[in-house]
Amino acid sequence: MSTTPPAIPIILDCDPGHDDAIALLLTLASPEVELLGVTTVHGNQTLEKTTANALRVLDLVERGDVSVAAGADRPLVRDLTVASHVHGESGLDGPTLPPAGRAALDEHAVDYMERTIAASAVPVTLVPTGPLTNIALLLERTGGANVERIVLMGGAIAEGNMTPAAEFNIWADPEAAQVVFSAPIATTMIGLDVTHRAVTTPALQERLAATGPVGAFVADLVAFFAVYHRETYGWDGAPIHDAVAVAHVIRPGLVTTVDRNVEVELGSELCRGRTVVDLWRRTGGLPNADVGVDLDDVGFFELLVERIGRLP
Ligand code: BDR
Ligand code: CA
Repeated sequence: MSTTPPAIPIILDCDPGHDDAIALLLTLASPEVELLGVTTVHGNQTLEKTTANALRVLDLVERGDVSVAAGADRPLVRDLTVASHVHGESGLDGPTLPPAGRAALDEHAVDYMERTIAASAVPVTLVPTGPLTNIALLLERTGGANVERIVLMGGAIAEGNMTPAAEFNIWADPEAAQVVFSAPIATTMIGLDVTHRAVTTPALQERLAATGPVGAFVADLVAFFAVYHRETYGWDGAPIHDAVAVAHVIRPGLVTTVDRNVEVELGSELCRGRTVVDLWRRTGGLPNADVGVDLDDVGFFELLVERIGRLP
């Protein structure tokens, strides 16, 4: 007799952000995971806006019960940079959402994570989909106690999107990223090499829209997010980066990974935030991350459409 495995407790640390919003919806629709709470960070927009966006998305699906705690409003060392050129002035431009109907908790995200993780009977999986500032602060404080693993969207083996050398989340706070990759905690890096295989098509947008009001909202998010990617890459869609990290937790096997050494470039301005992945084991550096190298894109999008269609 087969039994359903218990849901994996997770905290989503995000900067919504179009693809963060879709990652959040995928999480809410998936019984394989139990969302303990949402923490927010600077990134795609200011902390104030990313926090409001997380709350607005939760309102959309009537999940006022999910805790939201706001965290770092700037990187550990660098100046704040937001991605208005990709996500717009609100951080979630495109579909219209009313203002949030509630405020975030009166508790810093790092305090919230420390308390929530300590109280969990089962080690918690962290899924960061923005700059890693909150996660680095947590690890410096607790050493990662009762954290099962970290599955992060960020970095790349051979791509860049913020610069030719670096992906946005790692570029935004490279010192925080180096803290995460140095920590003795199982870490999976879902980088651009993988997420650039998760690019929507117009047909997929139609399928999403046909699933219902939440699907129509997601299709509208994709339509706005696709504008930047059409101009930059000539694609007829958008990569749903952050949802791939969540999908990897929900359905192991969609992403193929290899364990390798990853270091973050902190010194040079030209290569700031590059994740230097020792793919061909040139350095003798010990593996410190499972690095995504391939994606079952058909399986990923089937999962996404089916789960978004479950939301009310
Ligand atoms: C990452 O940066 C942001 O624009 C997205 O939300 C994603 O987390 C992709 O580089
Ligand atoms: Ca993000």
